[in-house]
Amino acid sequence: MFEVIYYSRSGNTQKLAAAIAEELGVRAVDVKQKKDLAKGSFVFIGSGCYANKQGKGLEELIKENNFKGRSVALFGTSAKGWGDEIKAMKKLLQPTGAFIRGSFHCKGRWFIINRGHPTVDELANAKGFACRMKNLESE
Ligand SMILES: Cc1cc2nc3c(=O)[nH]c(=O)nc-3n(C[C@H](O)[C@H](O)[C@H](O)COP(=O)(O)O)c2cc1C
Repeated sequence: MFEVIYYSRSGNTQKLAAAIAEELGVRAVDVKQKKDLAKGSFVFIGSGCYANKQGKGLEELIKENNFKGRSVALFGTSAKGWGDEIKAMKKLLQPTGAFIRGSFHCKGRWFIINRGHPTVDELANAKGFACRMKNLESE
């Protein structure tokens, strides 16, 4: 079972979440609406990058759920497109015993910077990433 949880302040990461969820055949859920993860689900966690960190509520989600042995895939968007939000989430997940299977990140629009990001191609790449993760799970 897959779950897609995200935090998105201005909608960029939400677009990735929707593309990934579509590929997985599930609904993307805003972290504001989510507290408890299903037992043993493969969870995709996404966030925009805000001062090099993940968005609000994700740290609590990670701290308040059992991640030991759980498969996790991370995704995110940022102005620089460097994946600092992914690094921050990895740091939170490391002590939990989660099994981080992969990550995907791309640029996101920020005011006049990166207009058009995530692009159609980046959204297609996000779907490709979800598909690879899905195949890993069925191996
Ligand atoms: C308060 C704030 C802080 C940000 N800090 C960073 C940052 O440290 N590094 C970066 O590359 N982008 C930064 N950005 C840009 C966002 O990460 C980028 O626009 C991202 O796509 C936002 O995702 P969202 O639309 O899902 O909220 C920041 C944006 C905001 C609003």
